[in-house]
Amino acid sequence: MNKTPIRILFVCLGNICRSPAAESVFNGLIKAKGLSDYFIVESAGTGGWHIGQEPDARMRRQGERRGLIFSKLGQQLGKKDFARFDYLVTMDDSNYHDALLLAGNDDDRKKVVKLAAFHSSGTVDKVPDPYYGGVEGFDLVLDILEDTCANFLRYVLDSQENR
Ligand code: 4NP
Repeated sequence: MNKTPIRILFVCLGNICRSPAAESVFNGLIKAKGLSDYFIVESAGTGGWHIGQEPDARMRRQGERRGLIFSKLGQQLGKKDFARFDYLVTMDDSNYHDALLLAGNDDDRKKVVKLAAFHSSGTVDKVPDPYYGGVEGFDLVLDILEDTCANFLRYVLDSQENR
């Protein structure tokens, strides 16, 4: 595989629930395939309320039950991230549109994708915000992330092969 790492930024609203979990799920997948050295994976929020904070305790608890490892602090998405990453992977329509507002040109805009579009069912349109709900919402997020991240990884690797 190409030595230049593929750079992926998962994006949600607060960067304490969905996108840190997506980062952890994706990191687990590439580690299992021995591909960690070929990727740079981070996450960010479109909002800045949780800069410097650990992921939400509910997300950590449910994720750790599935073997996920969380080791990041909250950061906010900015214009500079379009130069730092190849893919900006959003969780819902709101994140998608907010990310596009920061894009400077068509090349930037092409980097913004919706993770839900990679769901195997073809009927999931978002990774739903679990913040104001119960624990089942966090498990639903993890179920969706496990499916979509596996398909997204396959897509990225296929795109790489065809370059
Ligand atoms: P996330 O969830 O976007 O998945 O990190 C949220 C976290 C915090 C807030 C909203 C959603 N908030 O309003 O503070």
